[in-house]
Amino acid sequence: MSVSRARRIESVLDAVGDTPLLRLHRVARHVPDVEAWAKLEFANPGGSVKDRAALRMIRDALADGRMTKDKILIDSTSGNTGVAYSLFGAALGLRVRLVMPSNVSKARKDIARNFGTDIVYSDPMEGSDGAILLARQLVAKDPDAYFYPDQYSNPSNWRAHYDGTGREILEDLPQLTHFVAGLGTTGTMMGCARRIKDSGRRVECIAVEPAEALHGLEGLKHMATSLVPPIYDPKVPDRILPIATELGWDTADRLAREEGLHVGHSSGANIAAAILVAEEAQRRGGGGCVVAIVCDRGDRYFAPMKWERRYVW
Ligand SMILES: Cc1ncc(COP(=O)(O)O)c(C=O)c1O
Repeated sequence: MSVSRARRIESVLDAVGDTPLLRLHRVARHVPDVEAWAKLEFANPGGSVKDRAALRMIRDALADGRMTKDKILIDSTSGNTGVAYSLFGAALGLRVRLVMPSNVSKARKDIARNFGTDIVYSDPMEGSDGAILLARQLVAKDPDAYFYPDQYSNPSNWRAHYDGTGREILEDLPQLTHFVAGLGTTGTMMGCARRIKDSGRRVECIAVEPAEALHGLEGLKHMATSLVPPIYDPKVPDRILPIATELGWDTADRLAREEGLHVGHSSGANIAAAILVAEEAQRRGGGGCVVAIVCDRGDRYFAPMKWERRYVW
């Protein structure tokens, strides 16, 4: 099966979506009757699945007037969503302000700044909650100056996956039996699973969450001990599969060595879950087809590199 992407585009916005599906041959070779596929969301221009949600939140807000050229898009993320806001802000000529604790890595600050994003620092002792509170305070002080997308409660987040990711997977894999995605804001799972259910096809939707409250699977939430995102409906996934940090990291390492796929740890956890699901299907007999979301690339988690304007050869 081949997935074709447009080769010539007019805007970086047109590079979002239609990501490739990669058949995992090696890590799933012990389950020969079940197909395992990875949806490569790092192929989006900002390098992660969050491009889809960020772009949709911006587009919907521009369409209904919540965002205008005079306003500043503000949010409290230093991760993949921050990269996506910064990238689309630059491409669309919109001002972006990110609130982050002053101790986030220099690389994270540099990426945002390179797109022209303005950074406000919050108290490092208060962590990401401190950044959220400061962003809310800034908005409360001057509500007309800002557009605050709030990805945790913004329906445009999951709609991006309903109209994009979920639709693409259904079109590209008519034989699909199992869908696997992690829970962060839950936009990916809510949108894809709703699209899959609305299609009427019999596909089990499996949500991945960290097995431990204190975990190292960046981007994923341990729901029982976290603030539950308002867009999350626990009835949407058919099953929750807890994955240990260690297994997520080990699977990310295996994917690099065995498939040539260098991915982040939430993606390692998603593929680990997909392999477990494929093993169950293999034991039951009758075959199957599992797809899991690969959220971003592993190099996003490397120790920061210094961005040098002049190279010395
Ligand atoms: C690396 C990574 N993995 C997984 C997720 C989870 O995706 P979602 O927010 O759609 O649940 C995110 C986003 O928050 C992420 O940045």
